Amino acid sequence: MAAQGVLWVGLLLLGVSGVPQTQAKDQDTLQPYFQPDKFLGPWYSVGLASNASWFLEKKNVMSMCKTTVAPSADGSLNLTSTFLRKNQCETRAMQLQPTERPGRYNYHSPHWGSIHSVSVVETNYDEYAVLYTQGTQGPHQDFRMASLYSRTKTLKDKLKEDFAAFCKSQGFTEDSIVFLPEPADKCINEPE
Ligand SMILES: *[C@@H]1O[C@H](CO)[C@@H](O)[C@H](O)[C@H]1NC(C)=O
Ligand SMILES: *[C@@H]1O[C@H](CO)[C@@H](O)[C@H](O)[C@H]1NC(C)=O
Repeated sequence: MAAQGVLWVGLLLLGVSGVPQTQAKDQDTLQPYFQPDKFLGPWYSVGLASNASWFLEKKNVMSMCKTTVAPSADGSLNLTSTFLRKNQCETRAMQLQPTERPGRYNYHSPHWGSIHSVSVVETNYDEYAVLYTQGTQGPHQDFRMASLYSRTKTLKDKLKEDFAAFCKSQGFTEDSIVFLPEPADKCINEPE
């Protein structure tokens, strides 16, 4: 602990700004006056950044997925994602429970038995949304992830650049930021 304290002081003296923020437990930036009702409906995951080891292994073979957000009881949001895995379409459901802060949700991961915090950092509702997830996947496996959601499968370059800049400001390395290609299958292309 003491050694770590010395290291941080050292980094601060060197002027490595941004480092303390990346140690923060929660993402503090939230979309002001977040309106969940305007966040509902389909989104495509066009960009991702994470330091999770599974992500770093798989990032080059991942493709875009489609996520539909629906309202549920007690202000929860139900997210249903469709994606391609081992040449098959898979669907995964996730329930986000509201916290006292609008735009901040908790997700109870049945797989890891832990709570992940999911924050809507920024959105204009009809074009893009930036989400930030923080949690634990097994012992000593804290991870964080930033996601760029888009209402359409393609997104303006400016919004992608802004997302990459946001990720870097959060301490993600350049090679941990990916823009996902459209899958060459019909999983996410079928009309509803
Ligand atoms: C939302 O998801 C939860 C948990 O999977 C489920 O029990 C609930 O019925 C869903 N709500 C709606 C409105 O689909
Ligand atoms: C990811 O980043 C967080 C915050 O910096 C850190 O606590 C965690 O150990 C990192 N996880 C991995 C797998 O590197």
